[in-house]
Amino acid sequence: MKPERVACVVGARPNFMKVAPVHAALRARGVQVRLVHTGQHYDDKMSAVFFDDLGMPRPDAFLGVGSGSHADQTAKIMTLFERDCLDWRPDLTLVAGDVNSTIACALVASKLGLAVGHIEAGLRSRDWGMPEEINRVLTDHASDLLLTPSRDGDANLAAEGIAPWRIRFVGNCMIDSLRTHQARAVALQPWQAFGLRPGAYAVATLHRPSNVDDPAQLAALVAALADVAAQLPVVFPVHPRTAARMRSAGLAPPAGLHVVEPLGYLQFLGVMARAAVVATDSGGIQEETTALGVPCLTLRANTERPVTLTEGTNTLLGTDPARLAPAVAAVLEGRGKAGRIPEGWDGHAAERIADAIAAGFDTLLERSTP
Ligand code: UD1
Repeated sequence: MKPERVACVVGARPNFMKVAPVHAALRARGVQVRLVHTGQHYDDKMSAVFFDDLGMPRPDAFLGVGSGSHADQTAKIMTLFERDCLDWRPDLTLVAGDVNSTIACALVASKLGLAVGHIEAGLRSRDWGMPEEINRVLTDHASDLLLTPSRDGDANLAAEGIAPWRIRFVGNCMIDSLRTHQARAVALQPWQAFGLRPGAYAVATLHRPSNVDDPAQLAALVAALADVAAQLPVVFPVHPRTAARMRSAGLAPPAGLHVVEPLGYLQFLGVMARAAVVATDSGGIQEETTALGVPCLTLRANTERPVTLTEGTNTLLGTDPARLAPAVAAVLEGRGKAGRIPEGWDGHAAERIADAIAAGFDTLLERSTP
């Protein structure tokens, strides 16, 4: 069966840059694509700006679910996406990444007996305390077509008993977006807005519940950023979750930090591309810094993206914020990782995804097969 009607689901900020190139590649092959935005992220700075920056058309359907507890948000997405599926009847639903919108829509389509493809399949942190890990594992097992960004993904899926014919190594389509927009983003020189020079500043982002929901950990991280700011200026675009937690913990941003609202895709890409070092707890930024050759210090106990450690520029610092300032100093002394570009991070992953879909997948739909 060759899918002629494909529903592409987006919901939260990290989805947009993964789905944009796939959406374009499918349309270029004449596939009818319905872009469904769940509304998990809804602020202009978390959503609308990405459609403009990535040149992605407005969604065909906007479910408008908004924020809520995990159960509330997931349930709302499921109810509304089920109606959309019953209405439009996609031959294939494509979900991306590991957010609540991903698992919610994968579950809906699979229970309606409709085919599901998962972009960024197979990643594992083995940390069941992370909501995203639950979303990843369950989405993979509810999906028919598992599109992996790195070879560790293939191995993880095989180890969980997923049949090899459901797994397709396609590479990292988020890097397609990065390569498409990198030159334009740098040409904007977005660091000038903060009075900074290229190569002479750091970038920090924090939003993982494990870092920002615990007031003591958040306070220690903000203090660690102040220690970094004593070495070089730091641009700190603050996620709405983090901003809310800082407010409720009464934490004032320390001096020397450029504390700003979330940046758009092009602005952030340009700022990141010319940073001396990036400190983050994001998943995607670990990969983007590897693609850009910028040293990345990850403030987490684990990563589901080990290729960024073994091949890329990423260093896993663990959860002790006191490790950050010395690690930044080491990078500034020239001891940051240089890294190399992992296999399949070549700017053409979306074409391989569209090829895999266009080739049809009759064997995958034999749901009785293990
Ligand atoms: C979600 C994803 C996370 C991803 C992150 C990227 C899940 C479980 N988590 O986390 O994997 O790394 O997005 O940003 O899906 N808020 C706004 N405006 C918005 C969106 C959110 O103000 O447009 C605020 C709300 O107070 C909300 C909070 O941020 O309660 C958290 O949003 P939510 O979508 O639940 O999770 P994220 O932390 O954004």
